[in-house]
Amino acid sequence: MEENNKSTLKVSKIRDGIVIDHIDHGKALKVLSTLGISGGEEFTVSVLMNVKSKTMNSFKDVVKIERRVLKKVELDRISLVSPGATINIIKNFEIERKFKVEIPDSIIGIVKCSNQNCISNNKEPVSAEFRVESKNPLILRCVYCDRTMIQPEICHKI
Ligand code: CTP
Ligand code: ZN
Repeated sequence: MEENNKSTLKVSKIRDGIVIDHIDHGKALKVLSTLGISGGEEFTVSVLMNVKSKTMNSFKDVVKIERRVLKKVELDRISLVSPGATINIIKNFEIERKFKVEIPDSIIGIVKCSNQNCISNNKEPVSAEFRVESKNPLILRCVYCDRTMIQPEICHKI
């Protein structure tokens, strides 16, 4: 998939870790920042941006993180940044598990409400909370002020 026309790999396969594939093109850095990865880590991170997807009619980003696991909340964050992302868990060069991220039914403490006057932005003990109005396209509704949010606003507020 990351092969160019001469069939040489742009980025090598990894031994152990996670490949986050089919990231919406342009979202790789947001995926990294949402995972708290900023470059000072001990593990190797490979980032591919704007590569042709297998079907050749669209472009995507890919992130490979060696020797790292993902928590549920991290998968939830990725699903909100790039709902079509695929997670590949790699063990000893083999894909042990492959699954699509899933948008959770309720989103608590991940996205901030875009309404400045919302109670979730003004009262410390209240965590922002959203219900999923629609998954495709992604639309969230704040349980406190009823404001709806769509991409790329959601991505901006993670
Ligand atoms: N990969 C990797 N290291 C491995 C195995 C796989 O970096 N040891 C990467 C591949 O480069 C690819 C992704 O993990 O980006 C998924 O691999 P694979 O399932 O073999 O590719 P596809 O069949 O193209 O995936 P899909 O069907 O999900 O598009
Ligand atoms: Zn609100």
